[in-house]
Amino acid sequence: MKLMVIGSGGREHAIIKKLSENPEITKIYVLPGNAGMSDLAECVSIAATDIDAQVKFACENSIDYAVVTPDDPLALGAVDALTAAGIPCFGPDKKAALIEASKAFAKDLMHKYNIPTADYAVFDDMDKALAYLHEQTCPIVIKADGLALGKGVIIAETMTEAEKAVRSIMADRSFGDAGKTIVIEEFLTGPEVSVLTFTDGKTLVPMVSSMDHKRALDGDQGLNTGGMGTIAPNPFYTPEIAEISMRTIFLPTIRAMEAEGRPFRGCLYFSLMLTKDGPKVIEYNCRFGDPETQVVLPLMQSDLFTVMKETTDGTLRAEDVRFSDGAACCVIMASQGYPGKYQKGFEITVDDSVKDNVIYAGAAWKDGKLITNGGRVLGVLGMGKDLKEAIARAYENTEKVTFANAYCRKDIGSKAL
Ligand code: AMP
Ligand code: GLY
Repeated sequence: MKLMVIGSGGREHAIIKKLSENPEITKIYVLPGNAGMSDLAECVSIAATDIDAQVKFACENSIDYAVVTPDDPLALGAVDALTAAGIPCFGPDKKAALIEASKAFAKDLMHKYNIPTADYAVFDDMDKALAYLHEQTCPIVIKADGLALGKGVIIAETMTEAEKAVRSIMADRSFGDAGKTIVIEEFLTGPEVSVLTFTDGKTLVPMVSSMDHKRALDGDQGLNTGGMGTIAPNPFYTPEIAEISMRTIFLPTIRAMEAEGRPFRGCLYFSLMLTKDGPKVIEYNCRFGDPETQVVLPLMQSDLFTVMKETTDGTLRAEDVRFSDGAACCVIMASQGYPGKYQKGFEITVDDSVKDNVIYAGAAWKDGKLITNGGRVLGVLGMGKDLKEAIARAYENTEKVTFANAYCRKDIGSKAL
């Protein structure tokens, strides 16, 4: 069987590693991929958003199944186009991907179907947004409606900051067209949990819970990044909270999407905040999380391809989704300076003993050597019987990976211990 995976980061490397365990899969292409995954998949230089080229490639190369994981191709309709060309796909169609592509849509969906989330209002008129803002108290959260590389969320501590955020998103279009519409939202507090789930539109099966670390510096200081490390499971997500989340959030969401004529198939990722009033939705993502996937999939004991195919075919069975009760930790090694300016092109060396624990996000080949080619360069995985052991192993393993200007947080998972 020949597979095609669309994307290029650590998430895609983790997915490809897991898919490769299936002996029936004889070939994986990745579009465009990165050099660090080229032992498992053939990198094809077609951009993740070039849907026409993807369809052409899939047809010419008799691809049996495609896995679409980044948000932009999903929002642009990659799954619709591939499916129309006869290629079965993992991932939601364009209509269902709106749950991530428009925060206003997601908030209105939650409001209409009584799914717990922060109070909010949606505006496409700046004067009305500013007038509403003046009736609120700070801190307050301002979000660009559309996809903004995960950066379209501003938490304003003061009214001056809040006004500045509204003007910068709506008038200056600091996030481009993503900011035509904004959501102004109540500020919530509590531990954050990521729950990735498989769903075929009717049945939903959660994966093991996880915790991301979005800020660049130790102690959750510094700028927001694409994620500096993850752990799984997330100890704040108790069986009781899992039961409440399933009943009040997960199932109501897939039923709501079905009722709206947008049945969701693929991985629906719930970003939750555990408030004193119970779990509430911070946001939905229509895809696997990065770097959550890097800790979740290594704990999966069943076959990923089987489960993916079941979500496509509408035959998902809970018994096919099994996780170990161990723990995993992924520490991101980034280029010094990320998420701001950084240098790249430095040679990466990895000791053989940890080769299988390295998940590449931004690497390239140069003269037969692997070099750094991004802000987030790679993730280093540690597995253990519990979180303490997994975290210690992940940090031990980072000692065996070197490149110039490497930077990692030293406190991944410490909140969880
Ligand atoms: P997002 O890009 O939507 O994941 O938001 C980025 C981060 O902003 C989240 O991980 C939260 O830490 C924070 N955030 C988003 N919405 C809220 C909210 N309503 N209250 C408090 N924090 C929030
Ligand atoms: N880990 C956050 C995200 O994938 O959006």
